[in-house]
Amino acid sequence: MTTRTPHTQPPIYDAFAPHYERALRPLERLLLTRLRAATLRALTNDDDHTRNVGDVNNDDGNNSGNNDDGNNSSDSDDNNGDDSDGSNNSDGGSSHGDSHQRFNGRLLEIGTGTGLNFPHYPPGAHGAATEPSREMLRRARLKPPPAGVRLVQNRAEALPFADDTFDAAFATLVFCSVASPPRAFAELRRVVRAGGRVVLLEHVRPPGLLLGHAFDALSFFTVRLFDDHFNRRTAADAERAGLRLLRVEPHALGIVQLIVCEV
Ligand SMILES: C[S@@+](CC[C@H](N)C(=O)[O-])C[C@H]1O[C@@H](n2cnc3c(N)ncnc32)[C@H](O)[C@@H]1O
Repeated sequence: MTTRTPHTQPPIYDAFAPHYERALRPLERLLLTRLRAATLRALTNDDDHTRNVGDVNNDDGNNSGNNDDGNNSSDSDDNNGDDSDGSNNSDGGSSHGDSHQRFNGRLLEIGTGTGLNFPHYPPGAHGAATEPSREMLRRARLKPPPAGVRLVQNRAEALPFADDTFDAAFATLVFCSVASPPRAFAELRRVVRAGGRVVLLEHVRPPGLLLGHAFDALSFFTVRLFDDHFNRRTAADAERAGLRLLRVEPHALGIVQLIVCEV
């Protein structure tokens, strides 16, 4: 039913690469830059606990709660005084001031794109950032990447690393694009050591019948146009693949989720 970019063709993001950061800029200002920082912080935070993990399928019209859309959640780790994704979040620049804890371990990023997460890497992190698109990767190399982080051209479904190579892994806005989420999750489980974290920031199929169906319809077109799935249930996919869900934090009406898992 869905189209797939054959692996013999250049990745679709080769064509988007020159426009990618400009196209994303408004969303970065509104929401994404702050959530990128929160994603990297979740690699080291110890305050995650089971929350909202029962409704990861988002099928029932039940809003799982948007902790930054007016519903104050006392356990958000993302509360830097900015209480709304759509509000005057002036955090449009780097993450400095986000007070990352050190991460003295081997870290893997998949689908690193043009390297927009590099400013948010926790101090001490070293490892690899992988990306299938040569053009996205070329732009990432110009940033430059954090010290000790190697850039590797590769798809998440076949990671070129030995078992248990990494202490943690993360991805932002990637699982909407991967051709096979089950294979990518299986690879993450293989290369991240037992007990290590896998943190994802993803746009997903939102809760609620109306919004859910709207995203199903939208996805019909986006998959065909640029291989981007707007109705994935990534948290459920992760759990089905054997990852343990620690926290699923909805943002922007549940369209975006910060998903914290453990291998
Ligand atoms: C929307 S971009 C996100 C880039 C970056 N993570 C960010 O947050 O700006 C999606 C990225 O996923 C990459 N991608 C697509 N298919 C992939 C796969 N099978 N494995 C790993 N990355 C993939 C694309 O090349 C693209 O760079």
